[in-house]
Amino acid sequence: MDENIIQKKTIFSGIQPSGDLTLGSYLGAIKNWVELSDMYNCYYCIVDMHAITVRQNPTELRRRTIAQLAQYIACGLDPDKNTIFIQSHVSAHAELAWILNCYTMFGELSRMTQFKDKSAKNADNINAGLFTYPALMAADILLYQTDLVPVGEDQKQHVEICRDIAVRFNGVYGDVFKMPEPYIPKVGARIMSLTSPENKMSKSDKDPGGCIYIMQNPDDIMRCFKRAVTDSETFVCYNTSTKPGISNLMQIYSAATGESFEEIEKEFCGKGYGEFKTKVGEAVVEMLRPIREEAERLIADKSYLESVYKKGAEKAALTANKTLRKVYKKVGFVEK
Ligand code: TRP
Repeated sequence: MDENIIQKKTIFSGIQPSGDLTLGSYLGAIKNWVELSDMYNCYYCIVDMHAITVRQNPTELRRRTIAQLAQYIACGLDPDKNTIFIQSHVSAHAELAWILNCYTMFGELSRMTQFKDKSAKNADNINAGLFTYPALMAADILLYQTDLVPVGEDQKQHVEICRDIAVRFNGVYGDVFKMPEPYIPKVGARIMSLTSPENKMSKSDKDPGGCIYIMQNPDDIMRCFKRAVTDSETFVCYNTSTKPGISNLMQIYSAATGESFEEIEKEFCGKGYGEFKTKVGEAVVEMLRPIREEAERLIADKSYLESVYKKGAEKAALTANKTLRKVYKKVGFVEK
């Protein structure tokens, strides 16, 4: 049993509790995480320290962090098989982040697309944390000697800077960090907004109709799908450049039903967009229903969730502290 764990490759990924989890978080990330659980030694984190790079309401942040944990489990992530934890509970993340800050260059941080986007959106709060956020993310990944980092396309640049930091550090001190690889799933990776299908479905979307939430009630979900943007043609056919709205709905329908694009095209041949949108909405409602119900049940069970995140943090800290101690020694800190 133990030997098995040692041989398994390690996975680390995380989602910020900066907004409620969306259909995009489920299909693009968590659903894939569940599938990786058996084959890999997985760490799935709720990265609350990343979330405060943008101003958060404390009560809401606390509520969303717990709700996110409940949703991870309700989506099928087994806390006995995976290490599920809250980032701020393992202090090694903050400690390694500081050290890595000293091995990360101002110039390379300035080139990060997400920093440029977020500072444009939060012009009144371009704080140092927002700028050095990739060093914290590198700490998350490197603490666990991670092999693979499942992320969306938009986070690839952050995994690359993590690799650059690791190479730089290893170059000075020898092999301290394992070199992680980004792992970008092919299916379901990019669920787009229902109202502006050229943009990723995002919890920070200003248009509430564009985004479906895991915990959303069925009536609201149906309303969003009925209002989804399509095009001026009349046939259901997959083409992301000429029919981004319909193609996105097909992606979602395919993920919810397991049907291929060909089968979907056949099923809706000669039928209107209205009928298609209703069917996609219904499929999503049925897919999310058991998840929402289970998550609601778990959110009511505070002591269970507490036992999960406490055990998760303990397990994570064991590995994280081992790496951190090695780093402290390498850089020349006196042992305490
Ligand atoms: N930066 C990621 C995002 O915004 C979240 C994240 C933080 C993460 N630390 C990570 C993802 C480590 C993968 C690995 O989506």
